[in-house]
Amino acid sequence: MAEEVLRRAPLLAALDEDSARALVARMRPVELARGERLFHEGDPGDALYVIETGKIKLGRRAADGRENLLAILGPGEMFGELSLFDPGPRVATAVAVSAGRVHSLTRDDFVPLLDQPRVALSLLAALGRRLRRTNEALADLVFSDVPGRVAKALLDLARRFGRQTDDGVLVAHDLTQEELAQLVGASRETVNKALADFAGRGWLRLEARAVTILDVERLRRRAR
Ligand code: CMP
Repeated sequence: MAEEVLRRAPLLAALDEDSARALVARMRPVELARGERLFHEGDPGDALYVIETGKIKLGRRAADGRENLLAILGPGEMFGELSLFDPGPRVATAVAVSAGRVHSLTRDDFVPLLDQPRVALSLLAALGRRLRRTNEALADLVFSDVPGRVAKALLDLARRFGRQTDDGVLVAHDLTQEELAQLVGASRETVNKALADFAGRGWLRLEARAVTILDVERLRRRAR
């Protein structure tokens, strides 16, 4: 089970079955409780991680204490590789938003894999996708309003964590409203207002650390 999920990560997806199994055997499982911190922004980085279960938030803190979330990652996703590629401090703090298990790979076990062009290409593709996503988020910060950004964030979370139910897509994102606000780069009040407005229009139903999207199409139009 663990291996199947870990093999979705770009690092392992490019390996044949035997090599992937050997690599997983070299990775170290780390159990995380909800709210537990794995590493802190500024720490030296000596390992990368692939998520087996649970969700991880990657956040940065400004000098005045405000926080901004770069991403929420789930099973099969990888993080912590930047400070291995480009030796330097961690660019973000990693905290579990739900209990789960991640698998770590040390720099010494990681770097030799880059000699395999298929692995290197797969990692470059993943970095490229992340850069595209980050550029889009930056453009949205400049060009979109808060409700548009909230709609887009919910659709992104739905695509990765959503589950079809009888009345819509249940997105158990595990985030507080404060964290959702940090993800879209707005105040909690403004994000709450947008969510209440969407709920009032019947586009979604708010639940504890989750939403059920009832009208994906209307939300999609609002996200444009
Ligand atoms: P590292 O700097 O070692 O530790 C923090 C990690 O957050 C970083 O490696 C990346 O893996 C990840 N990260 C940084 N920026 C982003 C981003 N914009 N989107 C997703 N993940 C990111």
